[in-house]
Amino acid sequence: MKAAVLTKYNQVEWKDVEKPTCKPGEVLIKVIFGCICGSDQHIHTGEFHPRTTLPLIMGHEFGGVIAEVGEGVTGWSVGDKVAPDPIIWCGKCPACLKGHFPACTSLKLIGIDMDGGFCEYVSLPPSMLYKVPANIPDEHVALVEVLSIGCHAKNRANVQQNDSIVIWGSGKIGLCILQAVRTVTDNKVFMVDILDDRLAIGPQYYDNVIAVNAKKEDPVERIIKETDGKGVDIAFEAVGHPVEIEDGANPITGCIRSIVGGGKVCVLGLAAEPTSVVFRELIWKEGTIVTSRVSHGEFAEAIEHLKNNRLKPEALISKTLHGSEAQKGFEILKKDPAKNIKILLDFNTI
Ligand SMILES: NC(=O)c1ccc[n+]([C@@H]2O[C@H](COP(=O)([O-])OP(=O)(O)OC[C@H]3O[C@@H](n4cnc5c(N)ncnc54)[C@H](O)[C@@H]3O)[C@@H](O)[C@H]2O)c1
Ligand SMILES: [Zn+2]
Ligand SMILES: [Zn+2]
Repeated sequence: MKAAVLTKYNQVEWKDVEKPTCKPGEVLIKVIFGCICGSDQHIHTGEFHPRTTLPLIMGHEFGGVIAEVGEGVTGWSVGDKVAPDPIIWCGKCPACLKGHFPACTSLKLIGIDMDGGFCEYVSLPPSMLYKVPANIPDEHVALVEVLSIGCHAKNRANVQQNDSIVIWGSGKIGLCILQAVRTVTDNKVFMVDILDDRLAIGPQYYDNVIAVNAKKEDPVERIIKETDGKGVDIAFEAVGHPVEIEDGANPITGCIRSIVGGGKVCVLGLAAEPTSVVFRELIWKEGTIVTSRVSHGEFAEAIEHLKNNRLKPEALISKTLHGSEAQKGFEILKKDPAKNIKILLDFNTI
């Protein structure tokens, strides 16, 4: 079969590799679309080394149809549309025993710690699969993983009907959080970013979304003004490593300053460097900080929302390339992040 293989860092090659056999207890999936994630961009440059070993077939965001059902597998048929949950948790560590699987101390993902889905076929146990109704377009099946991250963040922050929201970061994750919160609340959602092209996406797809460019105005002042001096109920941080703004607060501080008394901040950004936060401001508000990591069962929720047209996956798709053009996809994302959110890779038409 053909696969997009990371043969050395910064280089993906379209190569012939051995097609996996459908082992007993597994199903063979014909991959239709894969989707390049921000983590894939970091893997591509070698930042995940030595966690990643080469050659590697990347791809933890993908979808397809079952091509073969292995011995002993029941309840699954050839032709079923599926979205694989790429996470493998151990089930034995203290976090897993508490039922807190996203915090598993030996959490692994296919496409990072082992070969993934940027190829024609993958063999997986059905325990990793979610069935997708036929009415969901193949392109959107590849987005279930990232949309489930938005749903998980929404659930971790316990967003309620009529909550007002700010999302710091209108990138891949921020836009997934926007879609998830819109399944619950119609109230104001502020999107804060520094790139006008990215800020244009939210208001294009949803009413009552207010875009705020943190380089042009003080987001906190704007949020306080537009919420009649109160602040928002929930603030999400989905920036990670922030571009510094002269005289501007860092995103987590911005979130703390934007919430109403008793409000909540949900942090998702995976910055490696320390962030200075004055906790006094949070304590005065008796605010809560929660974090959100990957997803935990929200594949089912994302699929249900997609089935009922409650999400706008098309808002995330900037381009579709053929699987053989994976390297070009990485180059485009690096060169022009403002104009590109998600790039899909087609592994169906070979
Ligand atoms: N917790 C999780 O489960 C999880 C999952 C995936 C990704 N992440 C992390 O979430 C973060 C965001 O990921 P992404 O894929 O959406 O990245 P992204 O690059 O697509 O989006 C980040 C956005 O933040 C904006 N930004 C940068 N500096 C800013 C500033 N000072 N103020 C306002 N906006 C600013 C950028 O312009 C960009 O649009 C990353 O740190 C990523 O590692 C977390
Ligand atoms: Zn991802
Ligand atoms: Zn574990």
